[in-house]
Amino acid sequence: VLARSGVRDLVGRRVVVSAGGTREYLDPVRFLGNRSSGLQGFALASAAAARGAEVVLVAANATLADPVGVEVIRVETTAQLREAVLAASVDADAVVMAAAPADYRPTSVSESKIKKADDGSAPSLELTQNPDILRELARERRTEGQVIVGFAAETGDATGDVLSLARAKLARKGCDLLVVNDVSGGAVFGSDENEAVLLDADGHATEVPRASKGVLAHAIWDAVGTRFISDLG
Ligand code: CTP
Ligand code: CA
Repeated sequence: VLARSGVRDLVGRRVVVSAGGTREYLDPVRFLGNRSSGLQGFALASAAAARGAEVVLVAANATLADPVGVEVIRVETTAQLREAVLAASVDADAVVMAAAPADYRPTSVSESKIKKADDGSAPSLELTQNPDILRELARERRTEGQVIVGFAAETGDATGDVLSLARAKLARKGCDLLVVNDVSGGAVFGSDENEAVLLDADGHATEVPRASKGVLAHAIWDAVGTRFISDLG
């Protein structure tokens, strides 16, 4: 991602970005996972570094190379992602949760490979809900004025359209900005492009038309930048 005409407006800022999809193991060889590629989070990390920020990228299972000038911490599970993000965000000015943490994990992880039953039967999986990292970050701001950003991939359902579901999610999470993707078509996964609506806690919605994930990344940092409370001193 190229800095737009060399804008270095994030010099002196520390930011944390999470990316990719977590894996929740059933045994040493099997896991529950999701389709997140990590591309948007990596684009965010690159864009912030290009604009001069000190960037920590917590990457869950992404097969992408380390972006230039970014400290990358590789994790697999939601518990590991949570630990790394919380540790890195202690002195951060902004935290962007672009990762897709699995909502649930198997209640117990088998230490050895689970064997298939001989009688044709199937086991049932008992799941436990994972902690909500974004909610935790929004509730316990670690630095004054820390800006917390979430992502929401929505399809709309019987209870509401994409935007009304997203507004409810923003309120529930307590974050400052929510980047909303309409994933009804399934098209964003692994794609180089993305389109989104940026919702803020004051109720404003800004549309970012279909563009590269790099362009959307810069639009997100523009929105984060306007929320930083004061000049660095
Ligand atoms: N998120 C998180 N911790 C979780 C789950 C999600 O921090 N355990 C973050 C994601 O990184 C994203 C935001 O919360 O920034 C929204 O994720 P999403 O899956 O849309 O929210 P959920 O509350 O899990 O709701 P849903 O039922 O739609 O999956
Ligand atoms: Ca979820």
